[in-house]
Amino acid sequence: MTVKEIFDTMEYGPAPESASEALAWLVDRGDSFGHFINGAFTKPGKGFPSKNPANGETLAIISQGTQSDVDAAVKAARAAQGPWAKTSGHARAKYLYAIARLVQKHSRLFAVLETLDNGKPIRESRDIDIPLVARHFYYHAGMAQLMEAELPDAEAIGVCGQVIPWNFPLLMLAWKIAPAIAMGNTVVLKPAEYTSLTALLFAEICQEAGLPHGVVNIVTGDGATGEAIVTHEGIDKVAFTGSTAVGRKIRAATAGQNKVLTLELGGKSPYIVFDDADIDSAIEGLVDAIWFNQGQVCCAGSRLLVQEGIAEDFYARLRARMASLRIGDPLDKCIDVGAIVDPVQLATIKRLVADHGNEGTVYQAPCIMPADGCFYPPTLITDLHTSSVLMQEEIFGPVLCATTFRTPDEAVQIANNTRYGLAATLWTENVNLALDVAPKLVAGVVWVNATNLFDAAAGFGGVRESGMGREGGWEGLSAYTKSKSKSKKLAPVEAIPEPTTVKVNGLDRTAKLYVGGKQARPDSGYSKAVYGHKGALLGHVGVGSRKDIRNAVEAAHSASKWGKTTGHLRAQILYYIAENLSTRAEEFAKTLDAMQPKSAKHSGKAEVEATISRLFTYAAWADKYDGLAHGVPIRGVALAMKEPVGVIGALCADEAPLLGLISVMAPAIAMGNTCVLVASQPFPLAATDFYQVLDTSDVPAGVVNIITGEHSGLGATLTDHMDVDAIWNFSSTDISGDLERRSASNLKRTWLNQGHARDWYGTQGGGREFLMQATEVKNIWIPYGE
Ligand code: NAI
Repeated sequence: MTVKEIFDTMEYGPAPESASEALAWLVDRGDSFGHFINGAFTKPGKGFPSKNPANGETLAIISQGTQSDVDAAVKAARAAQGPWAKTSGHARAKYLYAIARLVQKHSRLFAVLETLDNGKPIRESRDIDIPLVARHFYYHAGMAQLMEAELPDAEAIGVCGQVIPWNFPLLMLAWKIAPAIAMGNTVVLKPAEYTSLTALLFAEICQEAGLPHGVVNIVTGDGATGEAIVTHEGIDKVAFTGSTAVGRKIRAATAGQNKVLTLELGGKSPYIVFDDADIDSAIEGLVDAIWFNQGQVCCAGSRLLVQEGIAEDFYARLRARMASLRIGDPLDKCIDVGAIVDPVQLATIKRLVADHGNEGTVYQAPCIMPADGCFYPPTLITDLHTSSVLMQEEIFGPVLCATTFRTPDEAVQIANNTRYGLAATLWTENVNLALDVAPKLVAGVVWVNATNLFDAAAGFGGVRESGMGREGGWEGLSAYTKSKSKSKKLAPVEAIPEPTTVKVNGLDRTAKLYVGGKQARPDSGYSKAVYGHKGALLGHVGVGSRKDIRNAVEAAHSASKWGKTTGHLRAQILYYIAENLSTRAEEFAKTLDAMQPKSAKHSGKAEVEATISRLFTYAAWADKYDGLAHGVPIRGVALAMKEPVGVIGALCADEAPLLGLISVMAPAIAMGNTCVLVASQPFPLAATDFYQVLDTSDVPAGVVNIITGEHSGLGATLTDHMDVDAIWNFSSTDISGDLERRSASNLKRTWLNQGHARDWYGTQGGGREFLMQATEVKNIWIPYGE
């Protein structure tokens, strides 16, 4: 071709990256790998091939981890954990720093190996995946350094079992390992079966960095190996990234095992284009949103919502852009779209489009397709209904599904019409509109006039069925630390049994339930007597049932405007509750003393005083638990906003009938949540008297609902309820395992006592832990500049 011809066609010539170094690295290792356990590689066992999806060639044989491999890895991690946690933060920081430097030093080998194994374009592995891996280790080296000074009450959880997917193999490894080891944990990590190679190269980096043996262990294998890790009794914390279906299985399989769990699951993230958007930028953004990594991205902008007036023009320009996308050899630096990870994934994409494509108008880019390998053309399906399977299911391929909207409100409604809540993108030149819409989107991350931006400083993670917990940022550390304060086993607190001779004092008191700001009779029509420790009949309380819980949840939902009120207003109301309680302090103290015997530490008077103080604490916090503005490496800012979780269902402490109830209610409502509280099962009376305090303190109807009755049944109903966003359990009835099992179906956030007591009078009874559980962090990325 002559220079003139090149100028005429402006064709991109091939610019292949050489695979020879990476292939030589594989040959040097005999093209087969064992596991990395206790600082050394095991002999390769029975295994399976890891293939290059671009040409189907086998790259290496990977060992299938057995139960005994997992046992050995967990044993090594356990032995290493104590000494590693005792190592100074500065020493751990130096190891993380060394790893970061070594990742940078070997970055080209990592990038080529990743592309060979996964099929992603070399431009992406070289310019995005690997630099972000290094960034994650640098950032967390800093966290290790700062841990002692900045998190003085935090310590490592222990041994972490981590299972990751194939779409960002090394990056997901970094997201899991860096915060874990920075905080003094040790890990057993399993890469996805399609893409284990960079994890094995990373194991060599750990050796080169001199990381103490057993701190990082890597066991390869399929889902069975993953299951053996997450359910292993030697694992204290499970972190998983992958499909929602497997996330559910893991929640169910680990229920009752007293393991800390974080899940980063699927998504069907909306990409909203308003009619005043910079259309060319929005289209270029879409290339990054849905054709980046062939659309195999959990937060891919896979649901395009375009404002009706510009839709036809937008689609036409988008199709023209799609026609110019280059698909082909992932090692060619000139291609935009690489290979799908595996024939199985390719078949899933083809099936979804074949089965449902006729629900809309399908456009496939007329790209020149490679003759062999796992490739799928960039695809746009327009005119879809919001309920279409294609608009609801995660396709995990280069398929963009589109519909239109008329008003910003409708855009928000369609955007939120999904069971997921991972990410959202919006494009508009109107800053007021952007900052009005962003907080209304149900998602853990929102990108304004940009998309798929990631950084170690900004937490990432979702809500609803997109999972629980955050990775990155300060908030990500809470997934790898626990409080140093120790707690004892919580013995069941029994109600005072009916005495042989009952003393009846004056009028009969039958307390009702408190739902939607009104006292309500229990639907069951039953009530239960409450006796005092001196044999007196103190009154009756309603036996709450499923129907009462449903009514209470409905009331809590209809009070959701509470979340939009200012912290200042919520603070005033909390102070007012405290003031009204203090005017009746003596009466409450008497009721508490009548129910439970006084002890040196515990008296009704002391409990009321502690309760008033706690109300003051959360009145204080209501306007101070601020978000952050992260200095992310863009020209712009990522605003970490603290949002209420929604409706919180809580089983309140049996042993501290008033203080336990308020210690849960106050942080929940201070942060803008509404709540359904199930009062102390054996001593419910103080809670029922508390309605009157709420009634006189300007608390809007439905913000606080109080039910009395049996914890296990009511807790089960609250956990099963799809409209309850989080379940907290402080009951002395041993139900944490059952609630965890039940939460698997709807992936509800749980905060459960696991049968452990809490000192409600001390620091365990209040503070940041409660505020953190009462909020979700949403990171809103706002680039600026012309
Ligand atoms: P997957 O969720 O089955 O695999 C992810 C990881 O979990 C792998 O390491 C796998 O070996 C492991 N695993 C599988 N079963 C397990 C079990 N019972 N216990 C513990 N670990 C287990 O994802 P898969 O099958 O590779 O892809 C299926 C679909 O999942 C995709 O089509 C996509 O829709 C979705 N997906 C979503 C991802 C995300 O980041 N949101 C990542 C990967 C897949």
